[in-house]
Amino acid sequence: MSQSAVSQEHASAQDPESSAGLKPGWGVSPERQQAIQATLADLAPHSGRLTPGQLRSITTELAKRRELWSDLVVHDPDVRWYLPLHRSNSCDVWLLAWERGQDTDWHDHGGSSGSFAVADGSLLEQYRAPAGRLSHRRLVPGQAVAFGPGHVHDVAHGGQGSATSIHAYSPPLTAMTYYTSTDYGLIARQTVAIDGPEGGRGRGGADTALAMASASAARLTSDALPDGAPGIDELLAEARGGLRRLRPEAALAALTDGAILVDIRPLEQRIVEGEVPGAIIIGRNVLEWRLDPRSEARIPALARSDMQIIVMCSQGYASTLAAASLRRIGLAEATDLDGGFQAWRAAGLPTRPAQSLG
Ligand SMILES: [Fe+2]
Repeated sequence: MSQSAVSQEHASAQDPESSAGLKPGWGVSPERQQAIQATLADLAPHSGRLTPGQLRSITTELAKRRELWSDLVVHDPDVRWYLPLHRSNSCDVWLLAWERGQDTDWHDHGGSSGSFAVADGSLLEQYRAPAGRLSHRRLVPGQAVAFGPGHVHDVAHGGQGSATSIHAYSPPLTAMTYYTSTDYGLIARQTVAIDGPEGGRGRGGADTALAMASASAARLTSDALPDGAPGIDELLAEARGGLRRLRPEAALAALTDGAILVDIRPLEQRIVEGEVPGAIIIGRNVLEWRLDPRSEARIPALARSDMQIIVMCSQGYASTLAAASLRRIGLAEATDLDGGFQAWRAAGLPTRPAQSLG
């Protein structure tokens, strides 16, 4: 594979404006990021865990500062729309839009505290009160709620016109668990890893660890590498040598025969590109731990040596390395989707918008 193919896949994760299926308004310009950062600087520290009260002042203030986001909002009747506005070590901030009938489903925030403020329209929040009983409240422009790490809620469009809201979480969201409401209370159903806004749009600057590492890497040459270390092209070729990769139609046939499609793309990429219905989402960072039958963190239904796992990424590069790693830990049937999600979509196979966040 050529270097350009790598950077192309990288670019589609980092720069959604270059991706097909892009929602208008996606992406926050550097100038806008700076203005948002300047607003936040007066409200909360740049690092450390923020209190619900600090998060409330962030969402309330940003909801008022319409010039920072109002031209970015997209109201889509089919897909609940959201946009990462900011990310630091201490918090992430999102802009969300709501249309009639749209809601988040019951979820928690994976240990993060949070707040949201309504800027337009109204939202209806159902939530689990401390005693375990369910309660609800309607929020209108200028109102905000703030909550600690144990909060579980279902937020919905509150009726009448379009609604817009600002949400903030600290530490930045990394996982959310979805719940089913039953006669016995809320029962955890599924945990989804959240990779959150990444790279250039959320953080940066000359004093970050990333910037320092980049500067240091720029001074290295390939002479500094140990003898015999394979380059990424060789590593990929080696991994592909052992795989019978599947084109989308062949993958669909395998799924019908009981294979499992595992989507390792980060949330941000799934939001931009969409998802495959029925695919299991497992973050690349936890893949082996979830699928190794010997791992305590395994998903028992999937971590079986006789299960055919088909790994999917965006374009079919990262998925090859992931599938090779699964084969090394004994999942002899593991393979990957040749061409990734983009080939699946181009083949006209079923897709849907990414699972919602709120
Ligand atoms: Fe939420």
